[in-house]
Parts: sequence; C-alpha cells; structure tokens
Amino acid sequence: MQSTKTEVKPYSPEGSKREQVEQMFDSISHRYDFLNHFLSLGIDNIWRKKAVAKLQSLQPKRILDVATGTADLAIASLKLKPEEVVGVDLSENMLNVGRKKLTKKGIESITLTQGDSENLPFKDGEFDAITVGFGVRNYENLEKGLREMNRVLRPGGKLVILEFSKPNKFPVKQLFTFYSKYILPIWGRLFSGSTEAYVYLPESVKHFPEGEEFLKILEKCGYKNTEVSRLSFGISSIYEGTK
Ligand SMILES: C[S@@+](CC[C@H](N)C(=O)[O-])C[C@H]1O[C@@H](n2cnc3c(N)ncnc32)[C@H](O)[C@@H]1O
Repeated sequence: MQSTKTEVKPYSPEGSKREQVEQMFDSISHRYDFLNHFLSLGIDNIWRKKAVAKLQSLQPKRILDVATGTADLAIASLKLKPEEVVGVDLSENMLNVGRKKLTKKGIESITLTQGDSENLPFKDGEFDAITVGFGVRNYENLEKGLREMNRVLRPGGKLVILEFSKPNKFPVKQLFTFYSKYILPIWGRLFSGSTEAYVYLPESVKHFPEGEEFLKILEKCGYKNTEVSRLSFGISSIYEGTK
C-alpha cells in the first residue's frame, strides 16, 4: 500500500517513481553536494550531526546508511566510532561522487553499494542501527521500505530518519513557502541544469507525511518507542524508532 498522500514523481505521473528518482539523482550528482550546502546555507551538516547524535547511547558497531547518496550522513556517523558503515543507494552516479570523497578523505570503514531500500541485499538483523537522510520521501513504496529496513535491523536496533518537513509558524512558514516556490527552482536549475529536481523537491515535501502522522506509519511498520524532533522551526525533522 502506498503511504504518501499524493504520489509525487520527478518527471511524469506515468511510470515508476523508483526509476525516475534514480535518473534524477544520476543527473544532478555532480552538483548535489554544492547545492545542498549552498541552498541550506550549510545547515544540512548540522542536521546530520544532530541525527547521528541520536545513536550515541546505542554505540552501534554496524551501521547501514540507506539512500546514502554522496555519503555525507555515513561520514557523519563515523563520529560514533562504528566498526563498519555500509551505504546503499539507487543512484550509481551519486555513489561514485561519494566513493571519490571517501578516497580523498582516506576513509576505509565505509563501503558504498548500489541497492534499493525496498529490497535490501542484506540478511535479517545484520545492523545495529540504520540512518536515512532525506531519502524516505523518495521511496516508491514508503511502508515497504520502512519494513525492509526493519528486517535488516537487529532486535533492539535503532532507525534514525532525517527528513524535510514544513514549518508551521509565522513568519518562517511564509518565508519557507516563498523560498521553495520561487527561489529554490531557479537556483536549482541554474546550478544543476535540472528544473525538475528542484520543483520535485518542494512538491514532494509538501505531500509527504510528517510529525505524528509519520510516527504512526513507523509504528505500523514494526518500530517501537518512536519519537520526532523538529529542527530549525520545522524545516526538517528527525524520527527515531526501535525494533
Ligand atoms: C536527497 S538524496 C540524500 C543523500 C544523503 N543521504 C544526504 O544526506 O545528503 C536522496 C538519495 O536517496 C536515494 N534513493 C531514493 N530512493 C531510494 C531507494 N528506494 N533506495 C535507495 N536509495 C534511494 C537517491 O538516489 C538519492 O541519492
């Protein structure tokens, strides 16, 4: 069953969302890191650090970073001193940017591999913790992806999701709406060459379940002790759940 209220796809209402998402991230991979930091004024890295901090007390040894993209959240998770981090993503081009980054930084404890969150190439209970940064909004079937991550998590293991949400208070709400509708698509097109990607971004955020609604979906998919923390006036949120 599809959980997102309205299914928003990058290019066309027809066809597979998974294929369109892969194609979109393949096409913007060369500018993804720059645009992320530029469009968020660098706040995205602070959000990733806050997400990783939610795993501090668990001290996970094996971490899976799903929808790892160019590996920024996987790299941030090294703060926890895990033995191994595995990153999976649909987009080979995003992974290649990530691989170059890891080589440049001399990081050997992170492995990046192509894979789909809805059909993960891992055994049951392999990981102590799973992180997902700005990924779940792009899943074709949200509940299937959440259940599949639950499968590869060990009992007692923890899922931490960082995802955009919508600020709901004046004046941040109004500023955010204006920025998303008028500024983001223009800058996105100028710097990445893709109009679709930066129209899809605010549209997918607008239609994605958030807050308590998202916690209910997590619980339905097998997670306990679920919690949400809103960041930067609700521009993004961290969701936690335990298997
Ligand atoms: C916005 S980027 C986030 C990258 C990274 N986590 C970060 O914090 O910057 C979203 C990534 O999710 C990936 N993705 C979307 N759906 C996926 C799925 N079903 N399985 C694996 N990766 C997926 C995309 O290919 C893309 O690289």
